[in-house]
This record gives sequence, structure tokens and C-alpha cells, in this order.
Amino acid sequence: MKLLLQDLEAEVLASHQLGQDVYLLRLHAPLIAEAAQPGQFVHVRCSETFDPLLRRPLSIHDAGNEGELTLLYQVKGRGTAWLARQQSGQKINILGPRGRGFTLPQNKRLALVAGGMGMVPLLFLARRALEAGNEVDFFYGARDREQLYQLETLKAMQVNLFLATDDGSAGFQGPVTKLWEKYIPERSYDRGYACGPRPALAAFACLAGRASLPAEVSLEERMACGLGACRGCVTALQDPSGNKYYENVCTGGPVFDAVAVYWED
Ligand SMILES: Cc1cc2nc3c(=O)[nH]c(=O)nc-3n(C[C@H](O)[C@H](O)[C@H](O)COP(=O)(O)OP(=O)(O)OC[C@H]3O[C@@H](n4cnc5c(N)ncnc54)[C@H](O)[C@@H]3O)c2cc1C
Ligand code: FES
Repeated sequence: MKLLLQDLEAEVLASHQLGQDVYLLRLHAPLIAEAAQPGQFVHVRCSETFDPLLRRPLSIHDAGNEGELTLLYQVKGRGTAWLARQQSGQKINILGPRGRGFTLPQNKRLALVAGGMGMVPLLFLARRALEAGNEVDFFYGARDREQLYQLETLKAMQVNLFLATDDGSAGFQGPVTKLWEKYIPERSYDRGYACGPRPALAAFACLAGRASLPAEVSLEERMACGLGACRGCVTALQDPSGNKYYENVCTGGPVFDAVAVYWED
């Protein structure tokens, strides 16, 4: 993985509102776009001042296309609300690419399992995985069909797309991990990947473990420095003997082997 860290002013190319509080932000950031690996994130200064002081981590949703970097985010608080007000032509300070991304094999059959906004880094992974000759089954679950974002983009890619919603308004009714479970025996996957809420990740890890499938998950923790200095983002992991230890999500992750995560916390 290329190690490059850029702190730069990225120009907003466009900001599209995809849902009530969900935005797709297209930035011109060639140095970061060129170095970005699926699963990595950028640390975004969500202010023209130092208030809020801390940057906000956002996964890289897509990168390439002549220096373009795409982010997809949900407005949660002050930082993301500021971001949603930015318009084309404005400059945003971003730091990245940060973190350890996903392992990308070649010519294998892969299962990507996304819960809600967990779809964000998996779309970039799917694109790079297809380029590397892999077959990609993309399982995508959300509360209802309105919260399944980027469906047209996913359909235009050569992924096998499987949808799940809690209310049954699109695809399978129920958790996306339940849908994935049905396909594990017949699809003989070589590797699995997941991103989403922690309970969904724990269910995914359990299913992958039962199928002896190598699997990776992307974890979220609140972050301060994003550089490995403050220890504000630690998560509990376990070694092969089951001994618990702690690792920074911003530098050791956000992607971890599913078996290494201490799920009981
Ligand atoms: C590696 C990484 C990648 C991420 N990628 C994305 C992404 O691609 N798209 C996206 O929409 N969000 C993503 N997030 C979450 C995003 O960073 C937070 O939603 C954002 O920091 C909230 O900032 P705010 O100022 O708007 O809200 P704040 O005012 O800081 O917080 C508002 C609410 O959100 C909660 N919150 C804040 N940060 C997190 C977090 N990291 N995990 C769980 N809850 C949190 C707070 O507890 C609070 O309840 C990612 C987080 C991490 C760690
Ligand atoms: S956010 Fe500071 S060490 Fe990870």
C-alpha cells in the first residue's frame, strides 16, 4: 500500500443531496485520489476557523477520474452540517489518505456486505476489486428503499447486487447478514468484507467464522487527531490466544481482520 499523506485545500466540484440528510461531495484532490486505497479515509476540517477544532473522518467513497475524490456522508452534527453548506468552487482542507484499507486479491469470488452508510467504502472496494478481475457479490441493506443510496452507480458496475430492507420495501425483508447467510453455502466465496453498524459487523464476523472464510471489517470510532498520537480512537482486539489488547482505529485500521476484533465489548 502506498504511504502518502497530504494536507491540502481541495476544491468542491459539486455537492448533491441524495436524501433528507445525505450528501455526495465531489472534490478535486488529485494527490489524495491517486494514492487512495479502498477502506482508507480522509480527515476533513469542517470549518473555516478552528471551531469545531477536530477534523471529521469520512471514508473514501470513490477516487480516480482525473483527480476526483468522492465522499458520501450523513449529516450528524455541527461538522457534517457545515460540510453540507459548501458549494462548488469553495475549498475544503482535507488530510489523507489515512488508515489501513482492505486487502485486495485478484481473480477471486468476493462477498461485500454493507449495512446502511457502510456502503460508502465498499463501493470503492467493489470498483477496484472488479478491476483486479474478481467476481463481486454486493449485499446492501438499509431500513427502507429510500435509504439505499447509489443504486444506479452500483447497477452500472458489474457487481451481483443483492438488496435487503428492514421493512421489505426493496429486496429481502430483514437484516442484510441474514440475506448473505443464504448465499454462503452455494457461492463458495474466497473472502468477505463488511462495513456498517457494529451489531451487523459482529453477525457478519460470526457467519464468516462458521464458514472459515477470511474476512475483514471496517470499524468506526470517534477520532481526534486521526494520526495515531492521541489514542482517542482505540478499539479492543484479541490475539489468536484470545488475549485482549488495544489498537488505534485511525492507524491500525479502520479495516481489521474480523477474527481479530473483540466483539464482546
Ligand atoms: C474511519 C471512519 C470513516 C467514516 N466514514 C463515514 C462516511 O463515509 N460517511 C458518514 O456519513 N460518516 C462516516 N463516519 C462517521 C463520521 O465521521 C461522523 O458522523 C462525523 O464525524 C460526525 O461529525 P459531526 O460534527 O457532524 O457530528 P458530531 O457533533 O461530532 O456528532 C453527532 C453525533 O454523531 C455521533 N458520532 C460522531 N462521530 C461518530 C463516529 N465516528 N461513530 C459513531 N458515531 C459518531 C456522535 O456521538 C453524536 O451523537 C466515519 C467515521 C470513521 C471513524
Ligand atoms: S484519533 Fe488520535 S490516535 Fe486515533
